[in-house]
Amino acid sequence: MKFYIETVGCQMNVLDSELASAELISAGWERAESRKDATLVVFNTCSVREHAEEKIYSALGRLKHWKAQKPGSLIAVMGCMAQKDQSRIFKRAPNVDVVCGPGQIDQLTTLVARAAATGEPQIATSVDRFVHKNDPKAVRESFRLYDPKRLKETRPRAFQAMVRIMFGCNKFCSYCIVPSVRGPEQSRPPKDILNEIGILADQGVVEIVLLGQTVNSYRYVEGDKTTRLSDLLAEIDKIPGIRRVRFVSSYPTDMTDDLLQAVRDLPSSTPYLHVPAQHGADSMLERMRRRYAVGQYKEMVDRIYETVPEAAITSDFIVGFCGETEEEFQQTVDLVRYARFKNSFIFKYSERPGNEAARTMADDVPEDVKKRRNNELLAVQNEISLAQSETFVGKTVEILVEGPSKKETKSLSDALIEESDAPSDKETDLTSVDQLLASSRASVFGERGDRAQMTGRTKCDRIVVFDGSRSLAGEFRKIKITSATPFTLCGKLVED
Ligand code: 5AD
Ligand code: SF4
Repeated sequence: MKFYIETVGCQMNVLDSELASAELISAGWERAESRKDATLVVFNTCSVREHAEEKIYSALGRLKHWKAQKPGSLIAVMGCMAQKDQSRIFKRAPNVDVVCGPGQIDQLTTLVARAAATGEPQIATSVDRFVHKNDPKAVRESFRLYDPKRLKETRPRAFQAMVRIMFGCNKFCSYCIVPSVRGPEQSRPPKDILNEIGILADQGVVEIVLLGQTVNSYRYVEGDKTTRLSDLLAEIDKIPGIRRVRFVSSYPTDMTDDLLQAVRDLPSSTPYLHVPAQHGADSMLERMRRRYAVGQYKEMVDRIYETVPEAAITSDFIVGFCGETEEEFQQTVDLVRYARFKNSFIFKYSERPGNEAARTMADDVPEDVKKRRNNELLAVQNEISLAQSETFVGKTVEILVEGPSKKETKSLSDALIEESDAPSDKETDLTSVDQLLASSRASVFGERGDRAQMTGRTKCDRIVVFDGSRSLAGEFRKIKITSATPFTLCGKLVED
């Protein structure tokens, strides 16, 4: 009874895979080191672009032989594509035994057990949130507090943890699938969040990443008391042991002064702000149903640098959205130059069935034009990223050491690097949390000697590479930066 999870998509999915692993382990399953050793393969899927889905379907097709050779083996599909495609998955991929939506992770083990016992396909998803407005079964992510004690087993690094503070999204950007697969926006009660982080701190966690689709829209009302993200950060700051807190992703119009002041003033809040702009032309922002004009975004950028001068801002952009002209695209280039982003993630528009853009707008920018705009914007961003990185050469920075670098071993943070720092399309290869866990454990035990090329991150989320002992993983160290590339700083350990 061994399982293996393959994860694509954003940090929400990485966390969901940890949650699913915890569910399976508590039901008696063991983690397999590879797909070959597993009797259950789980795909945690993403729907944000078509390309991600195609990759999953072809991976599912390739598992035919694996399944044929292993009587009793099972395949489960969870995550956003499970919610979006539902029982259609069984038709397109007849190998699949279980389909489990993002709101039903707590049912995964039951579904798997039932599929094993009956040989029949099993499915649990939510009903459409737009058709069944008042139905409690309408798309809604599970609000259950997962037990952080169990999650200790499934966290790839003992000293870092992700904590979801919000579920779903209510912004309804016209191109996006998220509001229909992840359900309505819900903020978790602060006492649950603080309780969870307290337990994590007791377990030795020093760095927390707060997750939400629009994390800075966090708002919890209880009687006459409203808790905003800034209030939450202040409470988290009081928890002993938590040294760094960052939050992703932010929505531009909710980047309020109280939040920026909290980031500036609280020792544990870090000045890394991921605030997707999506586009640099008002006409496109309007069609995208973003709720701001470019001028407002620029004003926000000014305010960030004024309040938090050391801030590192990152953004997402979509190129080739419906009707985008060359002039409109150039306005995106202008915004990238204006905002001096640490990094931008650039995506070619991908039509997603059922949302407003798919219903009412033509996906009329040819693929080769999308590709060219993608590359052009990337080149501009790389130039800016390099110039920013170079300002660190000669300086000493404090990093949290994460472990051996990608060159040495593949690790969870590398998956997240690919996810959050890769200079281009965020689509990552299928990443197995299990494999990451195995390799990060191997690295701790120093199978290849104690010295390695190690990586860590600054409080602005800049990746730093240096030569050092593997035993430094999880510790804060000072590094003098000697050279820089757009997305990596290299340096030497400063001995105390
Ligand atoms: N096509 C391309 N990119 C998209 N994103 C969201 N929906 C789409 C789509 N249909 C991008 C946005 C978002 C990021 C996570 O994915 O830039 O911020
Ligand atoms: Fe999608 Fe917009 Fe919500 Fe982000 S804010 S998840 S882009 S609908």
